[in-house]
Amino acid sequence: MSAQILDLREDARRRPLQLTDAAHLSNFDRRSAIVTWQGRMVNEWVSARIFRELRAQAVDAGLSGAWRDRLARFEADEYRHGAQCAAAVVALGGEARAELPTLPAVPAHRETDALEALLRNVLSVSCLSETVAVALISSERMESGPAGLERTLREILADEVGHARFGWRLLDELTPKMGSARQARLSGWLRLAFGHLEAHELRELPAGAAQSAAAASVGVCDGDEARRLFYDTITDVIVPGLERRGLAAAAAWRTRIAA
Ligand SMILES: [Fe+2]
Ligand SMILES: [Fe+2]
Repeated sequence: MSAQILDLREDARRRPLQLTDAAHLSNFDRRSAIVTWQGRMVNEWVSARIFRELRAQAVDAGLSGAWRDRLARFEADEYRHGAQCAAAVVALGGEARAELPTLPAVPAHRETDALEALLRNVLSVSCLSETVAVALISSERMESGPAGLERTLREILADEVGHARFGWRLLDELTPKMGSARQARLSGWLRLAFGHLEAHELRELPAGAAQSAAAASVGVCDGDEARRLFYDTITDVIVPGLERRGLAAAAAWRTRIAA
């Protein structure tokens, strides 16, 4: 079967981005930046599909319209982020096309009820992945040079904050009525979620990616620093946040199951 190609050239044309104020980039740095933004383009597209499936799960779980509407908005946000990243690729001199990885289905968790299945995925997507994304993008935005890229990252960041907050707020609403058995099951499941998150982030953030200041200014992140920030976000933000909402997250992180 031939690989599926994500082609956002038309999306990029519709939102041209100028980087006339970018620092001089070596060919190597420019290439790294193009590959970085092409990877983001793909990740944003994948996120859109995840929110589409979460919305269907929210319907099954009987969540109210306001929660479901937010998930529909998040799907649209992620498609827009994909287009914004495509515009950055083109502004850097690249082509807004990339191979889409084979996408596994968002887990249905049929062994549990619809609400718990949804909560597992919301924990994983909003409280873990999107919360980590907020930390990483905040740091990249502070490093960014050209005004157009800074604005792109700032706009994406504002949406990602909303995507992360969704999970924390849903937990706030549901925790008081959740019951200790459900909390214990979700805490146990977190061991797997943390393992998957760590494997995913370590794949995305290669260690020791030494780079120039010019590359950093156009979005190529320093792998070692990004990994440190990832671990700090887990231990200083995510674990305490989940513990405050009644989940045994510290123990789950310590005993995470390697993916
Ligand atoms: Fe996004
Ligand atoms: Fe997001």
